[in-house]
Amino acid sequence: MDADSLQQAIREHLAWWGFRHFSSDRDYFAWQRRQLSSEELRQLAFHAEQKREGDHRDEIAFYDLTAHPRIYPVLYSQRYEYYEEIGWRTAAHLSQAKDILDFGCGIGVLTTFYARLFPEKNFVGVDRSSASVVVAQEKADKLGLHNLRFECVDVETQPLSGTYDVVVATHALVQAEHDLGLPSQSWRTFEREYSPAQQLSFERRTGLAIRLDGLCRVVNPSGRMIVSEKTRQLARRVPFQRALVNRELRLAERPTLIRYRTVEEAVEDGPFYVLYRGGEATLNWDEEPEQDQGQRFDPDADARSAGDVNVPLYENHWPSAQTAWEHLKDREVIRETTRQAPDGRQVHAERGISRSQHYLYCANTFDQRQLVIVEESRSAMLDEYYREILRGLP
Ligand SMILES: C[S@@+](CC[C@H](N)C(=O)[O-])C[C@H]1O[C@@H](n2cnc3c(N)ncnc32)[C@H](O)[C@@H]1O
Repeated sequence: MDADSLQQAIREHLAWWGFRHFSSDRDYFAWQRRQLSSEELRQLAFHAEQKREGDHRDEIAFYDLTAHPRIYPVLYSQRYEYYEEIGWRTAAHLSQAKDILDFGCGIGVLTTFYARLFPEKNFVGVDRSSASVVVAQEKADKLGLHNLRFECVDVETQPLSGTYDVVVATHALVQAEHDLGLPSQSWRTFEREYSPAQQLSFERRTGLAIRLDGLCRVVNPSGRMIVSEKTRQLARRVPFQRALVNRELRLAERPTLIRYRTVEEAVEDGPFYVLYRGGEATLNWDEEPEQDQGQRFDPDADARSAGDVNVPLYENHWPSAQTAWEHLKDREVIRETTRQAPDGRQVHAERGISRSQHYLYCANTFDQRQLVIVEESRSAMLDEYYREILRGLP
């Protein structure tokens, strides 16, 4: 099946599940208020907060609640575009496999999609939320799927059984969404030295190590793994990729970055990885920041185009701001501050002059960069920004 047909198929499948696609947040929230009582909304907000703050029991309680038949169509309609993006991409990689595991399958939205598309293949969905597994099995039965079963297993405490040609894990390996990841060596660079202790710490605190090890044990030696997590930011992407490398997982194709909208958010997600084990690596892992739209500062052209006094001569909030800052001509620092926080975060703020134009540069070890350049007459504004940044520093 080509990409268009797979996309059409996933949309039909989501409609069967009762999910709706909203292009306006206002419409979604109006619908949500009609569907759910204020007590249900309060419960959801409470458990979402507990999940953020608490341990695995809070997480299971959250997923058990969201599996309630009144709640899941409303809540998961927020993730409509996520299902579309992940669903068709994963399905496109299943044609060669016979036995497929969907780890952390939740209520089985995507697992049932794959099983419907490929009736000749065998699917197993695994999740530790028992309420989710019950819903998943009921839906599979309603669809008359005999090539799919679900198991309630927590891989943190129980081993997975069987072996699989493809193991799929999407949004199920790195549960700690708030974890910033691994800081770069200093604010001057995006590079991360390999430190076994830091790597282990990331893998342990996000639960990645135990999940990934469990999955590696059940994938066939010639099998594939399809994984996609919220690891687009370099500080999370690097330790995530290193965890894959450490388990001898290799790239079967270039990872794909994914963009979609959820309610209240335009999400930049992924990458979407297709992996195999052992053998020779043919593709290299990329630990560079993403290419962005930032240009270098051109003092002549940018000064000439200056018109509006409220607009800086140049502004860049992307990683490329670093190269632009490095290439500033005759850079003269007026004042600078570098602070180190206990969590490894290092922040640098710098006020300076480059050939009579004034700049403010800000960089930290979690890959944020910002360069603003103004004419001399507006330099007081940069001094104010600089003081503001200092006030916010640890
Ligand atoms: C964000 S949901 C993603 C569900 C599904 N993969 C999707 O893409 O829609 C994460 C799921 O992973 C499950 N999960 C997390 N840790 C697990 C573990 N240690 N063992 C089994 N399931 C786990 C959770 O219960 C939850 O249902």
